[in-house]
Amino acid sequence: MAQNALELIETMKDIPAMPTVIVKALGIIKNDSSGTKELGEIMAYDQALASQVLKLVNSAYYGFAQEITSINKALALLGMNQTRNIIIAVAMKPMLTSQGGRDLWKHALKAGVACEYIAGQTDAADAGDAFTIGFLHDIGKIILNIFDTMTYQKVKLDVQNGADIIEAEEEAFGVNHADIGFQLAKKWKLSVLLANCIKYHHDPLASSMPKVSCLTHIGDQLAQDTQDIPEIDPEILDNFGITMETLQSYREVIDEKTNALFMSLKA
Ligand SMILES: [Fe+2]
Ligand SMILES: [Fe+2]
Repeated sequence: MAQNALELIETMKDIPAMPTVIVKALGIIKNDSSGTKELGEIMAYDQALASQVLKLVNSAYYGFAQEITSINKALALLGMNQTRNIIIAVAMKPMLTSQGGRDLWKHALKAGVACEYIAGQTDAADAGDAFTIGFLHDIGKIILNIFDTMTYQKVKLDVQNGADIIEAEEEAFGVNHADIGFQLAKKWKLSVLLANCIKYHHDPLASSMPKVSCLTHIGDQLAQDTQDIPEIDPEILDNFGITMETLQSYREVIDEKTNALFMSLKA
């Protein structure tokens, strides 16, 4: 059994690479000014991506009045952040679905939508980054699944039967998906902000960036496939400055947005 997350990831030969379109998209955002035009160029080289973006921009998720048929028009309407979100969601889909199934893919979408929506409503965090943070928070799960699929299946079953996910993973692997996700984020050279949110999404008050880590935790809880939102530590709610009642009132629109996004991207 590996001693820690770094050791585990170092022993693996087949760590997935971050899809190149994401590397390019995130690189562009870093040096902002020329953004939208360069995102258009990325898509000019990736027809599958371009057609997914057009399909999405014409879906109920955005609900624009007239049909949008060109990528440049789509980019102008969506803006850079939304376009980046779509690129990430589309480009990560094969990896998430092959290693985590449709459930993990939908959970990632829903957490992305939830984080973005909550950030937008509250101004407590930058809504531009929020989708990516929510979307990637559980990325460590794919590494544990690749490392030992049979064992991870058993962990998932235990969790379905009520076990705590962090405890079950640590018992089976010696590490958990938050720590391993942090190591993957470093390997992928994701931003410190993203890496931190991934590492602390189950223990956000321990983060050096508590506010945005609390947002990740709250978005994750909202994205659980349960009738009611699972209990959230009052200290975490206080830190972010939100109540359960407010979150409850967001739930319907988050569900609707997630379904529209999921339907549009699922084919
Ligand atoms: Fe998680
Ligand atoms: Fe999660």
